[in-house]
Parts: sequence; C-alpha cells; structure tokens
Amino acid sequence: MTVNVEIDGEIAIVTIENPPVNALSGAVRERLLTLVELLDGDANIRAVVLTGAGRLFVAGADIVEFDRPPEPPFLPEVIARIEAAAKPWIAAIRGAALGGGLELALGCRFRVATANARFALPEINLGIIPGAGGTQRLPRVVGVAEAARIVAENYTPVGAEALRLGLVDTLMEEPLVPGAVSFARAALGRALPPRSLNRGVSAPASDVWAEAEGRVVADAKGATAPLQALQALRHGIDYGAEAGLALERKTFLALRSTEEAAALRHLFFAERAALRPADMRLQSPRSVETVGVVGGGTMGSGIAAALLNGGLSVVLIEQDEEGVFRARSTLAKLFESSRRRGLFGAGGDASGWMDRLETTIGYGTVERCELVIEAVFEDLAVKRAVFAELGRVCRPGTVLATNTSYIDPRLIAEGLLGPERFLGLHFFSPAHVMKLLEIIPTPQTAPDVLATGYDLARRLGKVPVRSGICDGFIGNRILRRYRTEAEVLVRAGVGIAAVDAAMRAFGFAMGPFEMQDMAGLDIAFLYREAARSRGEPVPDMPGDLLVRVGRKGQKSGGGWYDYIDGNRRPIRSPEAERIIAPLVGAKKEMAGEEIVARLMTAMADEGRTILDEGIVASAADIDLVEVHGYGFPRRRGGPMFQASRQDMTITRTL
Ligand code: 3HC
Ligand code: NAI
Repeated sequence: MTVNVEIDGEIAIVTIENPPVNALSGAVRERLLTLVELLDGDANIRAVVLTGAGRLFVAGADIVEFDRPPEPPFLPEVIARIEAAAKPWIAAIRGAALGGGLELALGCRFRVATANARFALPEINLGIIPGAGGTQRLPRVVGVAEAARIVAENYTPVGAEALRLGLVDTLMEEPLVPGAVSFARAALGRALPPRSLNRGVSAPASDVWAEAEGRVVADAKGATAPLQALQALRHGIDYGAEAGLALERKTFLALRSTEEAAALRHLFFAERAALRPADMRLQSPRSVETVGVVGGGTMGSGIAAALLNGGLSVVLIEQDEEGVFRARSTLAKLFESSRRRGLFGAGGDASGWMDRLETTIGYGTVERCELVIEAVFEDLAVKRAVFAELGRVCRPGTVLATNTSYIDPRLIAEGLLGPERFLGLHFFSPAHVMKLLEIIPTPQTAPDVLATGYDLARRLGKVPVRSGICDGFIGNRILRRYRTEAEVLVRAGVGIAAVDAAMRAFGFAMGPFEMQDMAGLDIAFLYREAARSRGEPVPDMPGDLLVRVGRKGQKSGGGWYDYIDGNRRPIRSPEAERIIAPLVGAKKEMAGEEIVARLMTAMADEGRTILDEGIVASAADIDLVEVHGYGFPRRRGGPMFQASRQDMTITRTL
C-alpha cells in the first residue's frame, strides 16, 4: 500500500509510504485523491493528519516519471482537492518537505513540523519550476520576497526559520503524529484559517522584482528555469492566483521536456548512483577522524581545507619551516574562502576549524591518523620516499592515499608495507571547492579501503568516480584530447578567440585557450616532448611554438593571449599569432555550433575509448567527472550525455 489510513477517534491519519523518499508517484496521487473523497464523505471524521513514513515527509514529484508524458491524476488536481476538502488537512512534516512535497503541504490548512524539517522548492535544480501551485500558494503564506527566494534561489528555511516565516504553524518533538493529532483536535475548536490560495497577498514595490530578477539571472549561469519560476510567481501577484497557476503549469510542462531538464535529471541520478556503487553497498569503511596530509602546496592545502570544512581533524606535514609557514597562510585564506562560499559542512563549524589543524615537519604525530593523503611534488622518487616513511611510521590499519595526477599508483606503492591499504584519491583544484574525487584502486587495494574512499567523499560532499589506471585517469585524459582538438582547430585556421567564445557561449566559464593560459601551457608541451623523445610521432602543435619562446600562459605574462600588468583579462596577442603562424592554415570561419560539436565529439570519443578499456564503469561517470572537475556546464549534462542526444537526434531525423 502506498498510502495508509488509520483512524484515531474523529481524526484520520493518512501516511504516505513510498520508500525511499515518499515521492508522489502516480499510485500515490491516485490514492490520495480517492482518500480525500472518501474522508470528506465520512461523517465520523472531522480532520485529517497527512504525514510521510520514514525520515522525511515527501521529497516531491517522482522524478523517474519525468521521462514520460504526465499521467493523471495530476498533482495540481490532487492538491487543489485537498485544499478544497470539507475537513481540514494538517500536514505533519518530519525531516523535509521538498518540491511537490512542500506544494502538497501548502494545500493543507495547517503545517506542523519537527525542528529539523527543511522546506524547499528545488525544482530549478532539475531545470523545471514548481508545477503544483508552489509559486502561487507560497507567496500567499510567507510573503512575496521570501517566496521568491525559496522558488528561484534555493533558499531552504529549516524548523524555527520556517516557523518565523509562517510556513509552519508550530514545531513539535517526536513522536510527531500523536502531537499532530492533538493539534488537529485543538484546531477543530477554533475558526479555520483561510486556504493558502485564498489568502491575501500584497504586491511588493517594483524594485523588489528588479532586484530579485537581477540576483536570479546573475546566479543562474545561463540556466533558464530560475527566472521563469520567478516570472510565474510574479504573474500570480500581478494577475491573480488563477492566472498564476495557469502560467506555472504551462511553464512546468514546457520545461519538463527540454534538453536542459533532461541533462539535469541525468546528473541527479548519476550523482546518487556514484555515491553508492553496487559493490560498495554492503562494505563498511574504516573509521576516519584524523587525516594526515603530506605536502601543503596548492593541493595539500586545498585538501586540508576540504577535510576541515567536512569536520575532520588534519595533521599537515611539510618539509621545512618555510613550507609550514606557506601552508598556514594559504589555509588562513582558504578558511576565509570557505566561509564566503558557505562550505562548512555538517560538523565543520567555523570555530573549530583552526583548532582541528596541526601543521608539522616530519612524521612525529602522523601515527594518530587513520588516513594519510600524499600531495607532494609530482615525482615518483619523492612520492616513493614519502610512502616508504609512511609505511614505517603509520599504524598497520592506516589507509594511505596518493593525489598523483599522472603517475601510475602501482609504481608509487611498490615496496610499500601493506599495499592493500593503498589507493589513489585524486582531488581537483581548488580542492575545497571542486566536487570531483577520482578514486583509483590498485589491484591490491582492499575492499574496505576502497569503501573508505567513498565514505570520505560522502563526508566531504564530494562526488566520487572510480577510475582504472591509465595516463591521466579519466579527467585529465579527456582534458588532453579536448585541448588537442582545440589546437587542431587553430591549426586549421579557426581563430583562438573564436574557439574560446564558442565554448563560453556553450556554458564553460572559460574557453580552452583561456584555461590553458591560466593553468600553464608547459604541462601539455612537456608531455608531448616526452612522447617525442620516446620516438612517438607527435606532430608539432601551435602551443609547442609558444612554449619554446617562453609564452607559458599567465604566469609568464602571456600564452595564447597577452596579459597586461598582471591583469587576468586575456587580450588578443598579435605576437602569439605571429609565432604560431607557420603551423596555421588559411583563416577559416567556423560557426560556434560547429566548434562546439567538434570539441564535444572529441571528448565523447575519448570517453568511449575509456569506457571500452574498462577504465570507467559508465558514461554517466564520465559526465560527472567533467561537470564536477572541469567546469563542464551542468545544464548540458556532460559530453557523453551530449553525444547520446546527438545520436538520438540523428536517429529521429533518419
Ligand atoms: N523522485 C524519485 N526518486 C527520488 C526522488 C524523487 N523526487 N528523490 C530522491 N529519489 C531517489 C534517489 O534517486 C535515490 O535513489 P537510489 O537509492 O536508487 O539511488 C533515493 O531516492 C535516495 O535519495 P538520496 O540518495 O538523494 O538520499 P539522501 O538522503 O541523500 O537525500 C533527498 C534525500 C534530500 C530527498 C534527495 O534525494 C533530494 O534532494 N531529492 C530530490 C528532491 C527534489 O528535487 N524534489 C523536487 C522534485 S520535482 C517536483 O516535485 C515537481 C513538482 O513541483 C510538480
Ligand atoms: P605544489 O608544488 O604546490 O606543492 C607540493 C608541496 O609538497 C610543496 O609545498 C612542497 O614543499 C611539499 N613537499 C615536497 N616534498 C615533501 C616531502 N617529502 N614532505 C612534505 N612535503 C613535501 O604541488 P601541487 O600542485 O600541490 O601538487 C601536488 C600533487 O598533487 C602532485 O602530485 C600533483 O600532480 C597533484 N595534483 C595537482 C593538481 C593541481 O591542479 N595543481 C590537481 C590534482 C593533483
């Protein structure tokens, strides 16, 4: 049974039981509609308590259904029927009421909740807007300004905050349902409040709209749904709830079938699957509270910050006083950056941050760590020396990880005492911000050590993707192909700025050449030089010519572009164009879409090869790598998603 009913005197208790998150599937909607009729017709019932079984009320519409046309009964009808019921319905909310779950609660006359209950309309994260009255009932309950933030900016009031907004009538402790039943009985003795949709609402001053629209557009990164959610809300204030509901539903249905929504759904499910791969579900991780980080440079400091943000303790080991000093001052900046970005996770409160950090020279205190992550120079001998030492001083159960970008972890672990406790944990820069964590087991890595990597990702709010061993693992390997293809286009006569502009228009924050200038051109150059010295036939690329004359990117004052006075704004460089001219064909105009298609095809092609080689488990994992490690625009779903849609379009037109 998806929805159960119990009777307690004159109160009916309706419990939605649709694990894991009580999504409002077709069966749930149908049963709710039947029940509201039934209970309205039952003379013995005077009020209805509506709740969800398990840890949360309702997480919203069933997202799985969004790949199919909507099926009746539609959620707006169900909610309207509950709202119109002769008997008052009281939503008893534990844990969370999200999306359609909050809309359902808004259809009830009262809302009572536990103090930890979260209220959100996260539809915009799925490329849609609320489709069951959320944009209309919410402003009438909490006011326009707060509703706009909830609808279009992911504002999520919790417990006391929701009470202050008038979103809930009272907070209660567990057991929630008996409390809600008592509340219902008491409510029956008083006049009922108006239904949400019938409440008066005052239109805000016009600058409130302008300000909200400005913020929403600035944060949307090209996504369309947030502004449309706000517009639906505004329509209902300007022209009345009925008009607002009609526009909301129309927009919801239109957005539901866009590419953007499909891309975001794809990532929603991919992210969840990534956290719990089938072979890890029953595997317990080792317990970790204190993590050693060896090396406090760019990555070591970033990793330490990520760990501290996640509530763990850190022992950061550098090689000398200067290294410790540098790491501490970097970490002070990362603390500020984390505060600004709101990155302190559960348990990672700001006050304890620095107290949980120990910085030291040598391995004297590393013995108290349950996990140690190495982030020293990318040099096999240096890394091996570190692990030889760690193998000696750490407890036998301590998990040992390398953050190497390219070196084969099997070579790093050679000779290590206890190789089963070793794995690669590849973070991305800046490590306290980027969500990707490539997890790289060696053939000897023990299952519980692998599970410890996944558990760490979960605790740090990262997205784990398992990678097999190959040069550059998943992400850097695709990145190399992407950059090479961009250079191939330039060699064919396409402008540097044209390539960058096309990729920015697609949604990347930077084009491939701007990105290379930021990261440095020398890494790709050295890689190609190494291949050439092994006798591999690697053709000269335009970037090689730039590096040979010292144009290595921003750090040398110029690369593909010029940078004036340390400014990071790229300026077209006639000098760079002159240097690469011997390798560049006649000027060629190429449409932005074609440039994007060429680069997407290259990435997806490398992705397919990586899949075929068994380096990665699924195409969706590749998309997660690109979105969470390389700034691939989320609303585009990733290169493999793009490729699958192209294939679909071709099939459709055939
Ligand atoms: N529909 C279908 N499945 C859902 C779902 C939903 N709304 N929400 C979560 N699930 C599934 C997940 O895919 C996952 O499945 P799996 O076990 O097979 O991987 C399972 O439920 C558990 O989810 P999580 O792993 O995410 O569990 P957490 O405890 O970490 O988080 C949650 C729970 C906070 C509810 C989180 O899942 C979440 O944020 N869900 C989405 C909420 C949302 O976006 N709601 C709006 C939906 S759109 C809508 O309501 C339209 C309406 O306006 C008409
Ligand atoms: P970095 O040069 O900024 O930092 C390395 C730090 O290690 C220096 O502070 C150095 O003093 C310290 N160190 C060197 N030997 C040590 C030893 N024996 N004991 C203690 N400390 C020692 O280098 P970065 O960029 O932080 O890279 C570190 C590792 O992370 C490399 O393996 C790199 O390939 C990898 N990586 C780098 C990324 C990046 O974007 N920079 C991204 C992902 C991985």
